[in-house]
Amino acid sequence: MENLALYIHWPFCRSKCPYCDFNSHVRNQIDVVQWYQGFRRELTRTRQVTGPRKITSIFFGGGTPSLMPPELVEDILETASELWEFIPDIEITLEANPTSVEADKFSQLAQAGVNRLSIGVQSFNADALHFLGRQHSPGEAIHAIETAQRTVNRVTFDLIYARPHQTIDQWQQELTQALSFGTSHLSLYQLTIEPGTAFATQYKRGDFQLPQEEEGATLYETTLDLTHRYGLKAYEVSNYAQNGQESRHNLTYWRYQDYAGIGPGAHGRLTLSSGEKMATKQYRAPETWLTQVLQTGSGDDEIVALTQEEQAVEKILMGLRLNEPFDLSKLPVAWETIIHLPKLTLLTNEGFLDHTGSQIQATLKGRLCLNAVLSTLLQPAI
Ligand SMILES: C[S@@+](CC[C@H](N)C(=O)[O-])C[C@H]1O[C@@H](n2cnc3c(N)ncnc32)[C@H](O)[C@@H]1O
Ligand code: SF4
Repeated sequence: MENLALYIHWPFCRSKCPYCDFNSHVRNQIDVVQWYQGFRRELTRTRQVTGPRKITSIFFGGGTPSLMPPELVEDILETASELWEFIPDIEITLEANPTSVEADKFSQLAQAGVNRLSIGVQSFNADALHFLGRQHSPGEAIHAIETAQRTVNRVTFDLIYARPHQTIDQWQQELTQALSFGTSHLSLYQLTIEPGTAFATQYKRGDFQLPQEEEGATLYETTLDLTHRYGLKAYEVSNYAQNGQESRHNLTYWRYQDYAGIGPGAHGRLTLSSGEKMATKQYRAPETWLTQVLQTGSGDDEIVALTQEEQAVEKILMGLRLNEPFDLSKLPVAWETIIHLPKLTLLTNEGFLDHTGSQIQATLKGRLCLNAVLSTLLQPAI
């Protein structure tokens, strides 16, 4: 059987950031013992589905997993290691917010088994952090990065750019500051307005504007240029790493390999011994998830067997995010059945895709509007 990646979702945050549409909730109290029981039961049930496999990576995402008691992280990891075999250099990432309270927990998290910290810095500018509704100061962000670097071997952090009024010069300065920490990985996202968020309402009301398309493109080119100069390769649309320091966990998604998603709203893709590939989705509301797991023994809200065509489409949607050639001949169906050929020629001629034989790859121009490229290419498959 294929190796497996595990995603664990912790759905709680101290406050809700106005740009965020992740499955995150604010609660006054959390019954940690019950949550541990929930994760333990769900891990055990998942093991029955996957059978024995080697685990290559585990990712605690959120929400804010750095708010989890380190003992809970340790218990979850111990349970997982009893159920599956861990490969010797397993990657165990935890998403952390950089308040000083959370940075103080990094060493306990490392003792629990976490060997990669992904910190939500977002900006080094106090006004920008205020605009983004963050709970930390630039000083706390710096302290968290330095603490993480002393604590675990692999540190990455996230920044959000293309913010209102942000000039190229300001972004260059901020990114240079980010690169000066010498982390082997960075995630650099352009601000997007997600439906249903507080920013969506404010943006619609005209409270702020985002950079125009051309400015966004220049900011992206600046990002590619500067990260390259510091030895980080753009291996995915928004992810930059030194060779060998890519997020192994996220590569599992983009290469369409198997992963189990555990926790409220988590998604999974699992190949069964019958060869079927299942798409799973857990109950989204935290309390519903916990009640379902504890009372019925399963947190799955949806389980669907994917057809070969659906798998091929998902494989392309994921694979084209990577800055490496994608081989259409390796799809489970003939690619002409899902790719709109005249559109492939058009997208290639217009410089959005490189296309040689059965290999395709998004160009820089294509990566700037990847969703539009993909929906054009896959019409009418999606
Ligand atoms: C799951 S969130 C990280 C959670 C963690 N609690 C935090 O806030 O750092 C992953 C990353 O996605 C990025 N992100 C989330 N919403 C975004 C948006 N609307 N536009 C751009 N980046 C976004 C942020 O950089 C964030 O750190
Ligand atoms: S960005 Fe992070 S801290 Fe803010 S609400 Fe989303 S998950 Fe929570």
